[in-house]
Amino acid sequence: MKRTIIALVLLGSFLISANPASAHQPVVLLNSDTSAVKGPLLVDGTVSFAVRASFTKLGEKKAFRAGFKAGDSVAVQLLIMDKKPENKLKNSALPTVTITAPSGASQTLKISERTKFFEPFSATNYLYLSRYTAPAEAGIYSFTVTAKSKAAVTIAVGEKEIRGEVLRGEAPTPTPTPTASATPAGYTLEQVKANNTAQKCWSAINGQVYDLTTWISSHPGGAGAITSLCGTDGTSAYINQHKGQSQPASRLSGYLLGPLAK
Ligand code: HEM
Repeated sequence: MKRTIIALVLLGSFLISANPASAHQPVVLLNSDTSAVKGPLLVDGTVSFAVRASFTKLGEKKAFRAGFKAGDSVAVQLLIMDKKPENKLKNSALPTVTITAPSGASQTLKISERTKFFEPFSATNYLYLSRYTAPAEAGIYSFTVTAKSKAAVTIAVGEKEIRGEVLRGEAPTPTPTPTASATPAGYTLEQVKANNTAQKCWSAINGQVYDLTTWISSHPGGAGAITSLCGTDGTSAYINQHKGQSQPASRLSGYLLGPLAK
């Protein structure tokens, strides 16, 4: 398989909300993101991102990087969805997150709480497990998530609610991670149909549900192509235009909410 790495810029979302965690721009770690270098780079780690890592078994690793400048603060929260299996697991069975600073100093987030938190945008109940803030060293931090069992976690990084940039090598095929969805059954077509405006634009494509709201104004093929997908199953429109193209597929993966319920 062609392994040329094409750096591409995923312009991210910009979700406005009073609640910090609901405003985080989603980034889904792929099965190929097995080390920090292979995983995505959040160019500015002070912009709010929600990085989702789902695992099927003990020992799996997924990783990403985030850049900081001197004077920035590294603000990280670890969350799980308040649903099975995660909310029934002991702390020792939940994934660990190790943060390594540019100097090489590393530490593993300590799970110290299970505070309920309702995220209104995706109508999802979360539990905070850990919150960490420290002054940043200048440079690239690595975040490595290691599974202890079948479970998914969300790592919220940064607080600034502005458009963020995510750089990643070309993923062979985006592999959406179904367990990162709101419910085991996934999002319904009714939910998709309810988000049918340019202010809240969801679309189902190839059996996955995407929040395309912030992509509308960035789409090189024009806003209209995306707004016509809001609230619909956009599979055929997407395939007709972009079948087999890696850039649109990579962009799309950045807006994944979760699977469409069968
Ligand atoms: C959610 C779905 C979509 C995503 C993520 C997406 C993404 C992209 C990306 C990344 C490019 C730039 C490709 C490149 O430079 O190689 C692009 C270009 C384009 N897209 Fe889409 N697209 C989507 C849906 C659509 C639809 C439904 C249409 C048409 C109805 C469309 C029409 C176009 C056109 C015409 C271009 C070329 C623009 C140009 O270079 O002048 N796209 N799209």
